[in-house]
Amino acid sequence: MGTQVVAVANQKGGVGKTTTTINVSASLARQGQRVLMVDLDPQANATSGIGVEKSDGGSVYESLVGDALLSDQIIRTSYENLSVIPGEVNLCGAEIDLPRMEDSLHRLQRALHSVKMANVFDVVIIDCPPSLGSLTLNAFVAADSLLVPIQCEYYALEGISMVRQIIDQVRDSGDNPTLHIIGIAMTMYDGRTRLSQQVLDEVREHFSDIVFETTIPRATRLAEAPSHGKPALVYDPDGLATAAYDVLAGELLQRLNQIELAPDNVVDVTAFQNPLPVQNQA
Ligand SMILES: Nc1ncnc2c1ncn2[C@@H]1O[C@H](COP(=O)(O)OP(=O)(O)OP(=O)(O)O)[C@@H](O)[C@H]1O
Ligand SMILES: [Mg+2]
Repeated sequence: MGTQVVAVANQKGGVGKTTTTINVSASLARQGQRVLMVDLDPQANATSGIGVEKSDGGSVYESLVGDALLSDQIIRTSYENLSVIPGEVNLCGAEIDLPRMEDSLHRLQRALHSVKMANVFDVVIIDCPPSLGSLTLNAFVAADSLLVPIQCEYYALEGISMVRQIIDQVRDSGDNPTLHIIGIAMTMYDGRTRLSQQVLDEVREHFSDIVFETTIPRATRLAEAPSHGKPALVYDPDGLATAAYDVLAGELLQRLNQIELAPDNVVDVTAFQNPLPVQNQA
């Protein structure tokens, strides 16, 4: 399959974007996919969480605001099939610089173009910051699809309605007419509370099949893993949450392959006229 770009996004903070990015990337890599994890967040939590050192100038920044080759920023991790473009605090500057630039929404798309053409990665996963600023908008334009984590908490639906508005804008403006949600990941599910179940039911009612079948449980060891610079697969190989992320990655892969295997790769444009096309699962 060609390189598929998936952005992990939700402007709500602390919903599990970075945890999902790290663990889905690690699982996909272990499942044999060649994965490039791109850290687009100035907090750079995905970078340290996978055990990669941050370094000044080592991020997408120079490729976004200048002509630096994005491929020069790719770092191999100690895990087979998994490479990273690190984040750095300087990315904050991109929020200020980008709006002043020509074609400002397409800078990441342009930078990723040569990476896609090289066909050395199957999946590019982008960890977005918790905002809808220029960096996130660039990810929405560069991505084939969005993976939206939702925390099993009150106000869970607030985050996603904003994401949907932006998707509509990005499609309608022609900046990325085929952008869609590939899946909603329900995170930090706590089986002991009724609230978690209520939120899960509510989100499923609204979004039906778009929600991944796998729900990620709340797990202390999942939260500890990043401080050891390790994905859950390595830090807590037998953990329930680790297994959940592994299954979720499989679900994602299945959906990505369905897009690739669509007859003659013809995109049914009517599907994109609905606010949220449902990914049919065979
Ligand atoms: N399933 C889980 N169980 C327990 N803790 C979790 C789980 N998922 C995430 N966390 C913890 O919740 C916090 C927020 O998660 P994370 O950093 O992944 O969210 P985020 O959406 O990337 O946040 P931000 O918006 O700041 O980028 C972190 O401390 C993380 O370790
Ligand atoms: Mg994050």
